[in-house]
Amino acid sequence: MSEGSACGPILESVGIRPDSIWVGGVDWNIRDFHGYATHRGTSYNAFLILDEHPALIDGVKAEFAGEQLRKIAERIDPARLEYIIVNHGEPDHSGSIPAIVRAAPKAKVVATKKGIETLRAHYGGEWTFEAAAAGSEISTGRHRLRFTPIPMAHWPDSMVTYDPGDRILYSSDALGQHLASSVGFADELPAGLAMEEAKRYFANILMGLSKPVEKAIEAIGRLAIDEVQPAHGVAWRGDLRPILDAYGRWSRGDCEAKVAVLYDSMWGATDRLARAIADGVATEGVRARLLHLRKNDLTEVATEILDSPVIAVGSATLNNRYMPSVGAFLTYIGGLRPPGRRAGFAFGAHGWRGGGAADISKALEDLGFEIVDPPITVTYAPDGAVLRAAFEKGRILAGEAKARAAVARPA
Ligand code: FEO
Repeated sequence: MSEGSACGPILESVGIRPDSIWVGGVDWNIRDFHGYATHRGTSYNAFLILDEHPALIDGVKAEFAGEQLRKIAERIDPARLEYIIVNHGEPDHSGSIPAIVRAAPKAKVVATKKGIETLRAHYGGEWTFEAAAAGSEISTGRHRLRFTPIPMAHWPDSMVTYDPGDRILYSSDALGQHLASSVGFADELPAGLAMEEAKRYFANILMGLSKPVEKAIEAIGRLAIDEVQPAHGVAWRGDLRPILDAYGRWSRGDCEAKVAVLYDSMWGATDRLARAIADGVATEGVRARLLHLRKNDLTEVATEILDSPVIAVGSATLNNRYMPSVGAFLTYIGGLRPPGRRAGFAFGAHGWRGGGAADISKALEDLGFEIVDPPITVTYAPDGAVLRAAFEKGRILAGEAKARAAVARPA
């Protein structure tokens, strides 16, 4: 039995409609989703369309395959499934598909052309495929299910499935959250919780794909939707503008007036510089967020960067370079490529040879950050004059943040 299966029945009873049944899995105790720190677990959402021609929308992670099949079997003989719709072939949503196909050998597997390639590459099955294209649809009887590819939001194969009759969008990873829950809808959770996790999800999964995501949200925004059922976390219903508007802001790179101060320190000197910079930022009425890169996971750091127009990155020098945690951060953020105009500044302490702060400045510039000023560096430990200079630099960075947030914000 998987970790999640014990809790499955809670959501089983939710069932979003009498003929659209949740047959997913809740992964309550996962804390590392391929490096993403999932402090609140996650879920793999999938739906059984009970109709004249029964259809499954999405699979689940392989370890939940037995649980998914059991949930289907409680409603219908799985062999009766005529369609297996795979919105996205990443294994957290397709791991159960081989088992489902074995149980439903007459079913057509519906995916985009790229999705079919993805499934063949992962599972090698000689399955009966039906390619989904923009606007193509299937009828299951009462339901029509219409497909819209959203390539690179977030894999080449990604698509969403829309039920125009019930005005439900099955949105795959888009609009999702890594959030395990015993309820089905965002409005059943404490206020802001689903949005907080949606932001974290966007920052770590979608930030580097802002343009395709923006196009996907435009396409979704044209549909008449009462309810969005993402493949992770809880669903959105009623007024969808808050989550769609948030996706718009995050995709464009709209920022708040704040400065993220990110650093690693050996004996406290770089830590003191970081605090002086943050104090300078705060004295200008701009929010500073101080994050030690060895004490905070990169998931949290990326979430902070999503709407920070300015980042200050510091490191002690270790073996003539910046510290490994700073290297990991630069690698991660290099892949995520924050959208919009961002500014960067480097600082750090060193002993008999420098190198760390200068290397950070160069790396930030290579990643497209506009470098505010040359780095502040200090030998061994900062004196009062250096700390005052760091404080003043914080004030300058606050001005940059104000200017960039004002420019980036929509009228
Ligand atoms: Fe949740 Fe891209 O898979």
